Amino acid sequence: MGSASWPVDAPEARADQSHLLAIVNTPQILTLAGPARPRIGPEMRHLAIVEDGAMIVRAGRIETIGRRSEIEIPSDAEIVDAEGRIVLPGFVDAHTHPVFAGTRADEYEQRTEGATYAQIAARGGGIRSTVRRTRQAGEAELLESASRYAEWFLRGGTTTIEAKSGYGLSLEAELKILRVIRQLAAKRRLRYVPTFLGAHEIPDEYRGRIDDYVAVVIHEMLPRVASEGLAEYCDVFCEPNVFPPDRARAVLRAASDLGLGLRLHADQFTPDAGAYLAAELGAATADHLEATTVEGLKALQAANVQPVLLPASVYNLGSTHYPAARQMISLGLPVALATDFNPGSSPTASMPMALSLACTHMKMTPAEAISAATINAAYSLRRGGGIGSLEPGKLADFVIHDCADYRELPYFFGREPARAVYVNGLCVYRHP
Ligand code: NIG
Ligand code: FE
Repeated sequence: MGSASWPVDAPEARADQSHLLAIVNTPQILTLAGPARPRIGPEMRHLAIVEDGAMIVRAGRIETIGRRSEIEIPSDAEIVDAEGRIVLPGFVDAHTHPVFAGTRADEYEQRTEGATYAQIAARGGGIRSTVRRTRQAGEAELLESASRYAEWFLRGGTTTIEAKSGYGLSLEAELKILRVIRQLAAKRRLRYVPTFLGAHEIPDEYRGRIDDYVAVVIHEMLPRVASEGLAEYCDVFCEPNVFPPDRARAVLRAASDLGLGLRLHADQFTPDAGAYLAAELGAATADHLEATTVEGLKALQAANVQPVLLPASVYNLGSTHYPAARQMISLGLPVALATDFNPGSSPTASMPMALSLACTHMKMTPAEAISAATINAAYSLRRGGGIGSLEPGKLADFVIHDCADYRELPYFFGREPARAVYVNGLCVYRHP
């Protein structure tokens, strides 16, 4: 797995050693400082806030954070005036599908008229309609649309995303998508963590021949993805009528043997097979979990699997069946939050929107939601040592949000609060 080929962990390349920033005039720096592991239970409410703070950034990394009165600002520092606004780590969006052609606005309209997501999929729409369009698109076209979506993530205050393939479903088309993700990462604005999702759906030409398709994923796609270092994780859409647990297990075991980490689309519609499989395989994450029972949650907890909750897809599908975040937090599960950005179930790249839904519909507190969207998400991607909190030595991925108090982030919903977004100490987005 060529992590060396990924700029994600090697941003020093662009960090000039003399580049010095001083962030001042902020009522709250949400540092999220704490132990070197994800936050659980009551820890999720503890944001380690520095009031009236200042932060010094040198060469793309955080050097010092503390009370303004206790920090000496170097005379050669470039001053970043937060103008009375809060500062927090960039959001880490741990579940997205950002490379696809076209939209599904037509299906959205059909859903407003009463058709369900499952009905649309059963008649050949849904994921398969995006696959048909994505197969036809060239790399340049996909790069262009995904670059546009990358700006949406940045505008929402997100600085790292996990990015899945899964709209190619043939060797060539899956490789094409993963290469687009590699090119996006090379732009060094948004950080990307790539995931191979060849088992997202059964493509048209393999309908009724799931085992033949699973063999292609295992014997043709996975070895190429691994040998070209195109993904760090493998994901499978585990559902009885898509990839049932025995097929999902076969794909994920093969991926694990090749050194890939594991993530699962688990129990979106049906309990509990996905959660049990994630636990059995020691996956990094089990995502969705809308249908998981308390037994499934206990299995995840015992196996150290992190839940990744996607309330925007629940909302957009018009469901009220949100995952049981409170129960998960009580069980000590290190919950992460993500957008699930994709053209079908969740066409939003907005982490502030996901936060608002998590607070209003899943009754997470604003602090819990922020922990889930930063430090816990970073750990779910094995990035907790470098991003997800603002601590000396960590990468300077931070955002100035137009709020005086962090609780305003989910409270004022449907707006874009980010005013300035920094990745590796460089400003990658500024609100006009
Ligand atoms: O996470 N459930 C499977 N995958 C996506 C939806 C993809 C699509 O509809 O295009 C999800 O919700
Ligand atoms: Fe998804």
